[in-house]
Amino acid sequence: MKAILCRSFGLPDTLTLEDIPSLVPGPGEVLTQVKACSLNFPDTLTIRNMYQFKPPLPFSPGSESSGIVKAVGEGVTHVKPGDHVFTFGSHGGLAEERISDARATLPLPEGMDFITGASTMYAYGTSYHALKDRGQLQPGETLLVLGAAGGVGLAAVELGKLMGATVIAAASTDEKLAVCREKGATHLINYTTEDVRERIKEMTQGKGVDVVYDPVGDKWAEPAIRSMAWKGRYLVVGFAGGEIPRIPLNLALLKGCSLVGVFWGMFVQKEAALSMKNMQEIATWAMQGKIAPHISKTYPLSEASQALTDMMERRVIGKAVVEIS
Ligand SMILES: NC(=O)c1ccc[n+]([C@@H]2O[C@H](COP(=O)([O-])OP(=O)(O)OC[C@H]3O[C@@H](n4cnc5c(N)ncnc54)[C@H](OP(=O)(O)O)[C@@H]3O)[C@@H](O)[C@H]2O)c1
Repeated sequence: MKAILCRSFGLPDTLTLEDIPSLVPGPGEVLTQVKACSLNFPDTLTIRNMYQFKPPLPFSPGSESSGIVKAVGEGVTHVKPGDHVFTFGSHGGLAEERISDARATLPLPEGMDFITGASTMYAYGTSYHALKDRGQLQPGETLLVLGAAGGVGLAAVELGKLMGATVIAAASTDEKLAVCREKGATHLINYTTEDVRERIKEMTQGKGVDVVYDPVGDKWAEPAIRSMAWKGRYLVVGFAGGEIPRIPLNLALLKGCSLVGVFWGMFVQKEAALSMKNMQEIATWAMQGKIAPHISKTYPLSEASQALTDMMERRVIGKAVVEIS
């Protein structure tokens, strides 16, 4: 079978496409014929040895995929060969076959295609957990989403709107912001050309935003916290911008606000029942057409490195997906 391999840590152009032996599932594992693998920012970190999960070399990157079950290991009963499934884990998706933990391998909702199946759970799972469980977002509140046209950001825009909030989307280009508008954002901020604090003051009549969803960090975090309403919740989701910001703690005091961490992968493990309920709600909304991932581009397996480069260079809007025949 063909697989993208990371043999030594580095940039996407160091990855190789190789023929390797077929895989065999062990106890509690599932072997899938991969049909689609969507990229998530952590994939760009894992290949550079910069992520908290560190697979042993060599490995195939790719955290989220969909496909058809080929075989199951001992003790696996909830899926069987022929079933359409989605899977997630730290790596393995950029290959024709993937071994996954059975607990992270779930049936695709009836009728959901492979590209949607590979692009839904990670982004919406993260953002729903963030907004609902960690942010306690309420109807009528104002939500600011930074990096709003990225994978998790655009999911937060859609979910925020669905949950009854007024969504302010902030991103780096007008092209990205136009997609945020289509997905339900009421207000738009181009943070390359506009002053975030001034724009939020205007949009909220000086009150500030109730919830900030921040997957970017870096220089964008502090102005967002300074733009919060009394008793706001600032969601620490990620640091795609590069630097992990150091925030003056007096801001939390002055705003009476909460700085709240979000770690979806750990939530899935530690609170499996609640996570499953969230995933069922997401699947229902997806099948009802209330949410739908925006796919900016699909790539063949041979161009997976280019897809990862596009993500690192901020060219992806929503999701980039590698299709595998
Ligand atoms: N906490 C959790 O459980 C969890 C779960 C999933 C993902 N995450 C984190 O969330 C973040 C976003 O993940 P994602 O998969 O949505 O990534 P993504 O699709 O690449 O989106 C990231 C966004 O960040 C912005 N950005 C600003 N500076 C950037 C830079 N130097 N390089 C790349 N992007 C930059 C880009 O928007 P603009 O060009 O508009 O600025 C981009 O759209 C990552 O840090 C990831 O690790 C956390």
